[in-house]
Amino acid sequence: MTLCSKSIRLNILSILILVGCVSLPIAESKNVQILEKKTTINYPAISCRKHTAVLTQFGGVGDGKTLNTKAFQSAIANLSQYGSDGGAQLIVPPGKWLTGSFNLTSHFTLFLQEGAVVLASQNEADFPLIDPLPSYGREQNFTDGRFASLILGMNLTDVVITGNNGTIDGQGAPWWDKFKKGLLKATRPFLIELMYTNQLQISNITLTNSPFWHIHPIYSSNVVIQEVTILAPVEVPNTDGINPDSSTNIWIEDVYIVSGDDCIAVKSGWDEYGIKVGIPTQHLVIRRLTCISPQSATIALGSEMSGGIQDVRAEDITAINTESAVRIKTAPGRGGYIKDIFVRRMTLKTMKYVFWISGAYNSHPDNGYDPNALAVINNINYIDVVADNVTITGSLDGYAKDPFTGICIYNATMILSETAKKLQWNCTGIQGVSNKVTPEPCDLLPQKATDCSFPDDKLPIENVHLATCSI
Ligand SMILES: *[C@@H]1O[C@H](CO)[C@@H](O)[C@H](O)[C@H]1NC(C)=O
Ligand SMILES: *[C@@H]1O[C@H](CO)[C@@H](O)[C@H](O)[C@H]1NC(C)=O
Ligand SMILES: *[C@@H]1O[C@H](CO)[C@@H](O)[C@H](O)[C@H]1NC(C)=O
Ligand SMILES: *[C@@H]1O[C@H](CO)[C@@H](O)[C@H](O)[C@H]1NC(C)=O
Ligand SMILES: *[C@@H]1O[C@H](CO)[C@@H](O)[C@H](O)[C@H]1NC(C)=O
Ligand SMILES: *[C@@H]1O[C@H](CO)[C@@H](O)[C@H](O)[C@H]1NC(C)=O
Ligand SMILES: *[C@@H]1O[C@H](CO)[C@@H](O)[C@H](O)[C@H]1NC(C)=O
Ligand SMILES: *[C@@H]1O[C@H](CO)[C@@H](O)[C@H](O)[C@H]1NC(C)=O
Ligand SMILES: *[C@@H]1O[C@H](CO)[C@@H](O)[C@H](O)[C@H]1NC(C)=O
Repeated sequence: MTLCSKSIRLNILSILILVGCVSLPIAESKNVQILEKKTTINYPAISCRKHTAVLTQFGGVGDGKTLNTKAFQSAIANLSQYGSDGGAQLIVPPGKWLTGSFNLTSHFTLFLQEGAVVLASQNEADFPLIDPLPSYGREQNFTDGRFASLILGMNLTDVVITGNNGTIDGQGAPWWDKFKKGLLKATRPFLIELMYTNQLQISNITLTNSPFWHIHPIYSSNVVIQEVTILAPVEVPNTDGINPDSSTNIWIEDVYIVSGDDCIAVKSGWDEYGIKVGIPTQHLVIRRLTCISPQSATIALGSEMSGGIQDVRAEDITAINTESAVRIKTAPGRGGYIKDIFVRRMTLKTMKYVFWISGAYNSHPDNGYDPNALAVINNINYIDVVADNVTITGSLDGYAKDPFTGICIYNATMILSETAKKLQWNCTGIQGVSNKVTPEPCDLLPQKATDCSFPDDKLPIENVHLATCSI
């Protein structure tokens, strides 16, 4: 009753519609009818919203040709006024909605109905140039800074991007091509980036063909990413799936990623810039990830890790035809640390490397880095690993003078491929132990009666209870 009287009021003002009240005379727009025909849609979210609007009310045209940047921008500008009045959701109906970059707002849900496809414009002019990230600096080759992401959020609270598995398609082909040819003066747009955001949920959607990384939460906290499918061609550059970056309290679960780069890459800034900003990524859980990435890692820690990475828990990980499993990458100049990393129950099939730690991943934003700034790597645990068709079991390359310590491998069985390398373990500059590992590890990982460690407690973010919201 309260809901219906509210929707009458809103319809008189012709601002918003509450679709639950189908008997109301609100059928003037086609897309409202699309929603009305359906019974109420329920969806799980960190917050439900009082107000609802449909993209077509703001001039959106879902024909795959009309540019909808202004429709998205004005819809969100309009809905931002409800931040302190119960929040608002923007419905993207079935159709193909071409758009350039747009900004999100607080207490806001972007809901992609089944059959809704948000298509990224392929025109550089539809992506404004914005400042480089403070923890990355301005890369020498990218003097113009960076293109804004397709979907960008800055300094927000309580943002949800969800739907009935609608799609956001980055249409990245021209960007990949220009990047390979060195024709870009700014770094490519991410598909979704949230900066300085608290309480973010991305769920039940499909993301594809990002020009660059797909999901990039940075300087953010309390992030939930669930039931997300990410698909990019396996041979294209830097189409990472999810990049938690200088962020705290992150819960990633039930994700399926096929990519030309790392499925998940955990980061915290680059060399002197990342050291100066000094914001770590910490308290991250990754559960039930399936990854296909022939050129890269299932989960990479680094290589940009200068603000530190701590307390990462990964379990029930499946990788198929992937270069490596949970890989650590750093280089002289990075500084920072990677510590308290816990990995268990990995099922791997056709892997180049199972255990891969690289201390000389030498890529730098410029020449201003301090070669004496070495990363501290400590307490890295791998438990219950089964790998089939493996080329190299372990390549662990630390610093002889300043070794990577506390590496622990328990219960890992590798079945080698026909073309496996003769040297299965190649270890330098590391210290650690192993137990029940086949083939037998290098001398720097001596056998010891241990089962390595994995925390018993839950992260605070895992106690978040999603509410049932409706449209
Ligand atoms: C946006 O909100 C304003 C102020 O409430 C209202 O006057 C206007 O009609 C709204 N625009 C649309 C397209 O609904
Ligand atoms: C989004 O917000 C950022 C930061 O305020 C701004 O630089 C950018 O121009 C905005 N983008 C659009 C499309 O309005
Ligand atoms: C900058 O571009 C040049 C020419 O394309 C390339 O050789 C060089 O490796 C690039 N530098 C960096 C830091 O990526
Ligand atoms: C966002 O927050 C950061 C960190 O608090 C601040 O430096 C920046 O100026 C804010 N940006 C905007 C657009 O409010
Ligand atoms: C996700 O979307 C699918 C497809 O519409 C739907 O059947 C399912 O109920 C949704 N799941 C959640 C958790 O909302
Ligand atoms: C969402 O769509 C993708 C791509 O079509 C599909 O692989 C995935 O299983 C779907 N997810 C859900 C939850 O329906
Ligand atoms: C070793 O790992 C396998 C695969 O995860 C598991 O089935 C088995 O129970 C583990 N064995 C021990 C002794 O922990
Ligand atoms: C095993 O791995 C090799 C690459 O090392 C690949 O060519 C081959 O197809 C894989 N075999 C199976 C059965 O998956
Ligand atoms: C072993 O690792 C070291 C250091 O990374 C490297 O220089 C060497 O070539 C590797 N040996 C083999 C046989 O791959």
